[in-house]
Amino acid sequence: MKATRKITLVVLAVLLLAVGVCFAGCGKDEGTLVVGTNAAFEPFEFKDTNSPSGYGGIDMEMAQLIADELGLKLKIEDMEFTTLLGAMASGKCDIVIAGMSIKPERLENADFSTPYYKANQMIVVKADSTIASSADLKDKKVGVQSGTTGADSADALAADTANYGTLTVEKYRKGADAIMALKSGNIDAVVIDEEVAKKFIQNNDGLKDAGTLDTNEEYCIAVKKGDTEMLDKINGVLDKIMNDGRLDAIIEKYIPAE
Ligand code: ARG
Repeated sequence: MKATRKITLVVLAVLLLAVGVCFAGCGKDEGTLVVGTNAAFEPFEFKDTNSPSGYGGIDMEMAQLIADELGLKLKIEDMEFTTLLGAMASGKCDIVIAGMSIKPERLENADFSTPYYKANQMIVVKADSTIASSADLKDKKVGVQSGTTGADSADALAADTANYGTLTVEKYRKGADAIMALKSGNIDAVVIDEEVAKKFIQNNDGLKDAGTLDTNEEYCIAVKKGDTEMLDKINGVLDKIMNDGRLDAIIEKYIPAE
């Protein structure tokens, strides 16, 4: 075979392969809504082997509802909280549902849906702790999940040295890691979203809350920046399930009214 002919064949083969890969790749994602989350945030998202998706919680049931409403299959991508918006920007997921609070810095990297839940931060301490409110965090070690609004709140206290002295902030990959550090006495308190704090207190012996930090946060679904088509679809479904009571029913299932 002549060299030029050989090259032509190789080029053709590569082209065919590329087209094949594209079809396989495009076909695979068609009809599927890929939702990014960090499934270490009960009652919003947690691993649940009894659930068909492998995940339970308010956000995960809401994700299923959204997929159903849009006529799509649901796929959950569980990843580190700090990597979620970057992963979405690079196409690893279509939307992010992760109890994620809307805040200005995040709006630079994503668009946010209508809020679906309001939240504050809560201080978790050991049952025998003398810390009873945020004022008592002066000179203390506070644990948080890195990249979260809980971390922002703790950092803000630490910056206020006039009131909080040498308060230091320890950052952990997961809320559960911060709770473990608290239980083993490495830190004095954990600051984390209120409902998640309550779950940790419920599920662990020897913990109590020491009040809240009223941060008035709003959880939203994040979509790719500029993807108005997706944003409109998501807001459409949210509007529907907020008005027909389906969202309230899911919330009530995981956070029974007291
Ligand atoms: N609401 C907080 C934030 O936006 C914490 C969210 C953490 N979510 C999670 N799935 N781990 O930063």
